[in-house]
Amino acid sequence: MTETSLHTDLPCIGMHQLPNRVILAPMAGVTDRPFRQRCRELGAGLVVSEMVTSDKRLWNTVKSRTRMNHAGEPGPRAVQIAGGDAEMLAEAAALNAEMGAEIIDINMGCPAKKVCNKAAGSALMRDERLVGEILDAVVRAVDIPVTLKMRTGWCDDTRNALIIARMAESAGIQALSIHGRTRQQKYTGEAEYDTIAAVKAAVSIPIFANGDIDSGEKARHVLDYTGADA
Ligand SMILES: Cc1cc2nc3c(=O)[nH]c(=O)nc-3n(C[C@H](O)[C@H](O)[C@H](O)COP(=O)(O)O)c2cc1C
Repeated sequence: MTETSLHTDLPCIGMHQLPNRVILAPMAGVTDRPFRQRCRELGAGLVVSEMVTSDKRLWNTVKSRTRMNHAGEPGPRAVQIAGGDAEMLAEAAALNAEMGAEIIDINMGCPAKKVCNKAAGSALMRDERLVGEILDAVVRAVDIPVTLKMRTGWCDDTRNALIIARMAESAGIQALSIHGRTRQQKYTGEAEYDTIAAVKAAVSIPIFANGDIDSGEKARHVLDYTGADA
């Protein structure tokens, strides 16, 4: 794609311009390759793989090998990695890039408890220093765009999405998905979009609003309400 053929109003993740504003969120056990393919056929502008653990020792299973095989898959191929150790995540990002990933998405959104006795997923949001280390290490490790998926915060009293969004932007993260729930909420209650709107107003990287989007009308409403890019 040339610079002149870019539609300036559609979001870009690095060099990848999305054809529309609808993205399939990563879902472990759901967004496998056939599911992603079907969602692409149905119009998704971007689809994201199931999360891959950053612990290479667990990659020798059929499940992991299947998740990491992208041969023949249309792009842009976004692969989500999960873990709690900056070096391991950086290495996992580099290896997945070698295996065909074109975008690396870091999981700070999943309410999963732990990977290898370390906090992972949205549990990381409680440790902003570690978040910074992870973002820096992963961005440095690859020459493809890195994106971040997170929640609005740890709990009602600690909605630190804005702090982490600013850290992400200065670390070189190219787009940010925000699920409008805290980690403590897991999947309960209703997603709130004010925090997403506040983040959108504060940073310049593309923001993807997520949570309780269950119809075209709802998607339109959330885009308008938050100003999010997708
Ligand atoms: C079955 C299932 C698996 C999920 N797995 C992941 C995952 O691997 N990584 C991630 O970042 N989020 C994961 N999520 C969260 C979704 O990406 C999304 O943020 C969330 O479902 C949005 O809220 P909603 O269900 O109210 O729309 C998962 C959600 C579900 C329902």
